[in-house]
Amino acid sequence: MAAPREHWSSRTGFVLAAVGSAVGLGNMWRFSYLTAEYGGAAFVLLYLVITLLVGLPVLLAELAVGRGAQRSPIRALAHFGGRAWMPLGAVFVAAGFLILSYYSVIAGWTVRYALHAVLGFDGDAVGDYFDEIHQGWDAFGFHLLFMGITIGVVAGGVKRGIERTALVLMPVLFALVIGLAVYAATLDGSAGGYAYYLAPDFSALLSRDVLTQASGQAFFSLSLGMGAMMTFASYLERDAHLPNESLVIAFADMGVAFVAGLMVFPMIFALGLADAVIGTAGTERDVGTVGALFVTLPKAFAEMGAAGRFVGTLFFAALLVGALTSALSLLEVVVSAAMDGLGWERGRAAVVMGGAIALLGVPAAWNVAILSVMDGIANNLFLLGGGLGLALYVGWAMKDPVAEVSTGAEGVRWFFLWRWLLRIAVPLVLGFVLLDAVPKTYESVAALFRG
Ligand code: TRP
Repeated sequence: MAAPREHWSSRTGFVLAAVGSAVGLGNMWRFSYLTAEYGGAAFVLLYLVITLLVGLPVLLAELAVGRGAQRSPIRALAHFGGRAWMPLGAVFVAAGFLILSYYSVIAGWTVRYALHAVLGFDGDAVGDYFDEIHQGWDAFGFHLLFMGITIGVVAGGVKRGIERTALVLMPVLFALVIGLAVYAATLDGSAGGYAYYLAPDFSALLSRDVLTQASGQAFFSLSLGMGAMMTFASYLERDAHLPNESLVIAFADMGVAFVAGLMVFPMIFALGLADAVIGTAGTERDVGTVGALFVTLPKAFAEMGAAGRFVGTLFFAALLVGALTSALSLLEVVVSAAMDGLGWERGRAAVVMGGAIALLGVPAAWNVAILSVMDGIANNLFLLGGGLGLALYVGWAMKDPVAEVSTGAEGVRWFFLWRWLLRIAVPLVLGFVLLDAVPKTYESVAALFRG
């Protein structure tokens, strides 16, 4: 007989676990390189607007469905919308598989770098170093190590595994990121970094690609569009105030991304490395974008001398903490689906599903071009498509979403607005973005096969 559903032991536990899911490689690695590629401050503004207008309503929708149904995503969608919606849940679970498989490879680079940072980076060799470790046996080994840790924590359960890890590690991450941003401000020559990062040049917004990338980033960063937040919310008690929780999660996520930019850009400019990173979209250096943080920042750390060893270690430690708490949520989606749908117990689900994900990650560990295409497919198709599906589901198919979301939040007056955003505005924006993203993603896959 199935055990009764686990619940978070406290509100803080849930919020930190959800913020832990949101804050990750997306906030530091992905946010920085996209900002560098797509125009700096103007891109940041667009990302913030989309997070609030599109991301936040979808986040609240995921929380309402998950808490209301108290089930894993596939069953939760069936619960409020009938069996016809189960395939959307299956797409969510598939997205969890796909994203974690390559996310863990990047997290593996991070583990490798964190170890290396302790010893100090050698300034001239860091470019080669990235070339050496980012694909092949090294990448594979550290990918397996990272998956092993993730599986171990998820097997420990919602309270004793995921919640406890988030309670300990998230405050550490906040302290590290803020500390590093303050340190960056003390460097000579950091002003150029602030200007690039904070003074918008709106002409950067004229390309349609920028909207697509900013939307994909908003969904990835908030962990939306594949049932991760829904799964975490399914372990909530009924009295949680969902609008408050969703605001805290969204602002913490934007806040960490923003502060991460305040550390990355000033450091890069202060050490004269801006040219290597800025505005490289579509140029020959394009392959470097995924690796920008892993090549340029270590170079910066190397040039800081003795301080760099310390700063570099802290930086990669923060990145690693973010990666781990995010990976937990990705695996939990798949594990909770296996527990609910196949009747497996948690330990078995974590080991079998985690093992399968580790295998799926092998091609990404072998070839970074594959990794990059997987990231494009995941974001542009799965997350944006999943977000569109979910908005339509809650907006049109679910009988009384307002009743679900107002439980525990009586007296909030703007839920009708939320519903209309989900019905009209969110599908319009996501539909428009998908029209651009689908053919582009198809083209990137075709290009990979052409070699
Ligand atoms: N949000 C995480 C990050 O920014 C990644 C992540 C975790 C995620 N769970 C997710 C992305 C679910 C999409 C969906 O690094």
